[in-house]
Amino acid sequence: MTADKILVNFSQIFNPYDKGHPLSGDDMNKAEIIENGYIAIKDEKILKVGTGQPDSDLISDTTEIIDYTGKLATPGLIDCHTHLVYGGSREHEFAMKLNGVSYLDILKQGGGILSTVRSTKSASFDTLYNKSKRLMDYMLRYGVTTVEAKSGYGLDWETEKRQLDVAKQLDHDHAVDLVSTFMAAHAIPEEFKGRSGEFIQLIIDDMLPKVKAENLAEFCDIFCEKNVFTADESRKLLSAAKEMGFKLRIHADEIESIGGVDVAAELHSTSAEHLMKATDEGIQKMAESQVIGNLLPGTTFSLMEDTYAPARKMIEAGMPITLSTDCNPGSCPTINIQFIMQLGCFQMKLTPIEVFNAVTINAAYSVDRADTIGSLDAGKNADITIMDCPNIDYPLYFFATNLVSDVYKNGKHVVKAGQIIE
Ligand code: NIG
Ligand code: FE
Repeated sequence: MTADKILVNFSQIFNPYDKGHPLSGDDMNKAEIIENGYIAIKDEKILKVGTGQPDSDLISDTTEIIDYTGKLATPGLIDCHTHLVYGGSREHEFAMKLNGVSYLDILKQGGGILSTVRSTKSASFDTLYNKSKRLMDYMLRYGVTTVEAKSGYGLDWETEKRQLDVAKQLDHDHAVDLVSTFMAAHAIPEEFKGRSGEFIQLIIDDMLPKVKAENLAEFCDIFCEKNVFTADESRKLLSAAKEMGFKLRIHADEIESIGGVDVAAELHSTSAEHLMKATDEGIQKMAESQVIGNLLPGTTFSLMEDTYAPARKMIEAGMPITLSTDCNPGSCPTINIQFIMQLGCFQMKLTPIEVFNAVTINAAYSVDRADTIGSLDAGKNADITIMDCPNIDYPLYFFATNLVSDVYKNGKHVVKAGQIIE
C-alpha cells in the first residue's frame, strides 16, 4: 500500500509499546526508540513507522515526502486532566498565596473555586467558547492533540450544561480532540453550605441522568478533600455514576489524605488524580486495582508546596502513571504540558522514557482512547508531535521552552514551524 505522506529523516522516533493495558512497573521505562526513521501516513492513520529511508513500495506519484532532519517525533501528547472551560481568572488570589494563605482557606472564605463559579455562571456560551478555544490553541502549539476537560465551575445544572456544551462544540470544531468529564461535585455551592449530602443527592437524582441522556460526558469525577466532599459522599456519587454507565475518575489525596484512594480502588476507577499525599497503603491498594495514578506536579509547584506525588514509589509498587497539567484558573494556571513533563523528571525523578510513556500511551488509557491514539502503531490515528531537538532527553533537560515545531492531527498538518495552520 502506498502512503499519502511520509515524514522522513527524524533523528529519533519515540514509540510506546501498547500492551493492551496501561504500562506499569519496569514496563514504564521501556519503549521502541528508532534512530533515523520515518513515519508513513495513509487516510489519516499511521501506515508504517520504520528505520532509514522508506521502501519504494510505500511511495506513489502523489506521495508527499516531508523532511524532518534532526527532529524528534512522538505520538501526539495527551493532557488527561484539565479544568479547561471556565470564566474569569484568579490572579487577585496570587498575592494572598504569596502571603501564605492556603488554598483551602481561600476556598473557605468563599474564594478559590467558588470565585470561578461566580465568573462562569455570568459568562455566556460564546465567552466560554472563545476563552477555551484560545487555551486549546496554545495547547496544540505545545504539542497536545487530545485533552480531557472537566465541568465543575457551574455547580447548578444550567451552568454545568453550558460548560459541557462548550466542550462538545470545541471537540467538534477544534483540531484538538476533547474528552468530557462531568464534575459538578467540584465544590459545595454557597446555597448548599453545610448540606453537602443534599447536593450529592441532587447530582445523582437530577444532573447525572441528564448528562447521560444528552450524552454530554463519558467520565464522572469528584473532589474528595477535607472541607469539600468526604470519602463516603464520593463513594455514593461514583457508585451511582458507575451504575448509570459513566467511567470514573477521582481527585484524591491532593491536600489531605481522607480516603478517596480507597474509593478509587474499590470502584475500580479508571484513575485517581493528584495523589500528592498518597500513603504507602493507598499506593498498594491502587496498584492491586490497577488504578492509573494521574499526577499533576504543576499543582504542587503552583500551590507553592514542596510535596510532589511519590511517583517512584508508585512505579515500584506497580501502579501505572500519567502526568497532566490540571490546567485551571486556581491551583495550576498553565497549559504547558512540556513544563509538567520536566517537573516529572526534576521533582519526581521519573526517567525521560517514563515521562513520555505517561503523556502518550498511559494517558490514552486514562481517557479510554488507547484503541486509536497514544502510540504510533499502524492503524492508529496519525497524531504526531514533532520537536525541534534530536532525542527525548533534550526536551526534558532544556526546560521551560516550547520546542514543538510541527503537529499532525489525524494525518493533517495543523502546526507548522510553531504556527497553527488554519
Ligand atoms: O484539580 N482540586 C480541585 N480542583 C482543581 C482546582 C480548581 C480551582 O482551584 O479552580 C484541582 O486542583
Ligand atoms: Fe483538577
